[in-house]
Amino acid sequence: MRVVIFVSRVAGEGVKARCFILFRQSIGSSMDLDSSPPVAQDKALTVLGLESSCDETAAAIIRLHPDGRVDVLAEKIRSQNEAHAPYGGVVPEIAARAHAEVMDTLVEQALAEAGQSLADLDGIAATAGPGLIGGVMAALMTAKGLALGSGKPLIAVNHLEGHALSPRLSEPLAFPYLLLLVSGGHTQLLIAESVGQYHRLGSTMDDAAGEAFDKTAKVMGLGFPGGPALEKIAQSGNPDRFALPTPLAHRPGFDFSFAGLKTAARQIWDGLDVPTHTDKADLAASMQRQIAKSLAERSTNAMKYFTETYTDIDNPTLVVAGGVAANKLVRSHLEEVAGTQGFRLFAPPMKWCTDNAAMIALAGAEHLRRGETDDLSAPARARWPLDAASAKLDPAIGSGRKGPKA
Ligand code: KG4
Ligand code: ZN
Repeated sequence: MRVVIFVSRVAGEGVKARCFILFRQSIGSSMDLDSSPPVAQDKALTVLGLESSCDETAAAIIRLHPDGRVDVLAEKIRSQNEAHAPYGGVVPEIAARAHAEVMDTLVEQALAEAGQSLADLDGIAATAGPGLIGGVMAALMTAKGLALGSGKPLIAVNHLEGHALSPRLSEPLAFPYLLLLVSGGHTQLLIAESVGQYHRLGSTMDDAAGEAFDKTAKVMGLGFPGGPALEKIAQSGNPDRFALPTPLAHRPGFDFSFAGLKTAARQIWDGLDVPTHTDKADLAASMQRQIAKSLAERSTNAMKYFTETYTDIDNPTLVVAGGVAANKLVRSHLEEVAGTQGFRLFAPPMKWCTDNAAMIALAGAEHLRRGETDDLSAPARARWPLDAASAKLDPAIGSGRKGPKA
């Protein structure tokens, strides 16, 4: 494909690069980025990361030290909650436009905050999927334009790898560790074995946990995003009043399912005459508890598997990441089962649990250190399983009509 880039203004220290990249035909080899030279292992790497796969637009600059420590030099993020609130969910077209409108401003602000210019960077990383394709393109195309303009290496990052590595923004957590990723788009259990090596134990067979929170909250008219709203009203509710099922209760395995629970909650809601505040609070409390129970039970199975597999690890860690990790009941259930299984539960600070660009920059820096970079043909991908091997073994898990998503 041929790439045409218009850079509207390149000013002083900061750079305002408004990149309109038009893909026509195929990229000629002359447009490929230089393959990146081997990176000295004792060099700290400074990387710009961009994220726009769902409804957060973000740019961050991190410095990865050779010993694994990370300095986050700048972080800029814009949420689109207000734009999507009237629709009760993320509208892909609105999201894509909003990302494209603010991405270059956030890049400029991040560079200024970090006191860096593009020339100071070692690489430019962007989420290349999985996610809403129009959104993913905003970050990836911007990164391609900046990489081409500056001559810096491009790293196309799997968003899920960003989440998998996110705890290492806080501390140089040793591999392997177990990760429960619970967001609006994903619910999966992974073993992070090393950079680039992830073993997906299980994933949701239908809805993600956050999706179940959001959709139930929408039915109950609680507003968007639904998870925090449902948690709030659940505080005064009685979780024992309504009998909701615990998905896959006492069953072996590591997969999840929330669609049946969501439907059961909806049926109870539809059966209520004129729901009172108490009805809402009780149903919310019950829904929240069943989700928390299910996450804790399936994580327990995974912790047992981890312990049997890695017999030489004395202090194993269960990391919980994703927006649902903000839920206090979910956390307390996970704390409890982690304690019972001899695991430390580690939840990164919320700003790194939810979608953010620092984790994308970190994943980019780790790959850059290994000399793994991409050229301008790197595609934006709606679907991109992190662990292609296990996705293939069980294509029913986490897959839609077009194949495995993640
Ligand atoms: O990781 P995230 O910010 O974005 C992606 O989905 O990628 O996660 C957002 C999800 C939403 O479904 C939201 O409702 C849920 O996390 N969430 C919560 C809470 N805070 C956010 N769910 C339950 N309780 C919360 N306090
Ligand atoms: Zn995410």
